[in-house]
Amino acid sequence: MIKLHGVTKIYGPDCVALRDINLNIVSGDFVSIVGQSGSGKTTLIKLLIAEEKPTKGNIEISGWDVAKIGVSDIPYLRRQIGVVFQDFKLLPKKTVYENVAFALEVAGEKYSRIKQIVPQVLDVVGLANKKNRYPCQLSGGEQQRVVVARSLAHRPKIIVADEPTGNLDSINTVEVIDIFKKINEFGTTVILVTHNREVVNHLRRRVITLHEGKIINDEIDGKYRL
Ligand SMILES: Nc1ncnc2c1ncn2[C@@H]1O[C@H](COP(=O)(O)OP(=O)(O)O)[C@@H](O)[C@H]1O
Ligand SMILES: [Mg+2]
Repeated sequence: MIKLHGVTKIYGPDCVALRDINLNIVSGDFVSIVGQSGSGKTTLIKLLIAEEKPTKGNIEISGWDVAKIGVSDIPYLRRQIGVVFQDFKLLPKKTVYENVAFALEVAGEKYSRIKQIVPQVLDVVGLANKKNRYPCQLSGGEQQRVVVARSLAHRPKIIVADEPTGNLDSINTVEVIDIFKKINEFGTTVILVTHNREVVNHLRRRVITLHEGKIINDEIDGKYRL
C-alpha cells in the first residue's frame, strides 16, 4: 500500500510542484500518471523513492514513513521500489548480463544468487538470447528493456517508471508496456508516468491526471473514482 496524505512540495518561493496531494494506491495496482510538462509528475516519483522530501505531508510505503526516512534506510527502501527513467543509464562497457548483475553486486548480493536471478529477469523482458551484447549493439527498445530488467533485479514490490517509453517508437512502446503489464500480473504494483494517451487507453487501468501540482482527475477505464 502507498499512501500520500496532504503532500506538498515547494522547491522555491515561486515553485509549488505539488499541492496537498492525497492518494492511495493498493498493492498490485497498475496506475498511470498523466499531465502536462511541469505538472509535478517527476516530483511525485522522486518523493516516492525519497530522492526529494515533501515540504509538508506524509508518504507511507509498505510501512515506511518515506517523508522521514533516514539516509541509512534509503537503500532498503530503494530495493522495494524498482525505478525506470526515460534516459537509459546502462553502463556502456558492460554487457546486458553484466549491467543487470552489477545492480546486485553493488547491493552485496552473493555470486550464486546473481547467477540465478539475472537470467530470470532477462527472460521476463525477452532478452535472454542477447545477454552477451553491449548496449551499443541493442536497439533503443531493447536497451530500455535491459533497464527494466535491472529495475527488477531486487524483486521489488513496486515499479515506478517515469516516461519509460518517451524515446521509443510505437512498436517498442507496446513491447515495453507489455512487459510492465506482465510484471503487474506477477503481483508487482506499477506506477507509470506517461505522456502517451494511447498507452493509457490501451491499458484500461487507473489514470491519475496532475495539473499544476494537483490531482484533477482519477479514473478507471474512463469512469471517475473521485
Ligand atoms: N529541482 C528542482 N528545483 C526547482 N524547481 C523544480 C525542480 N524540479 C522540478 N521543479 C519544478 O517543479 C515543477 C514540476 O516539475 P516536474 O515534477 O518535473 O513536472 P513533470 O515531470 O510533470 O514535467 C515545474 O515547475 C518544475 O520547473
Ligand atoms: Mg517529468
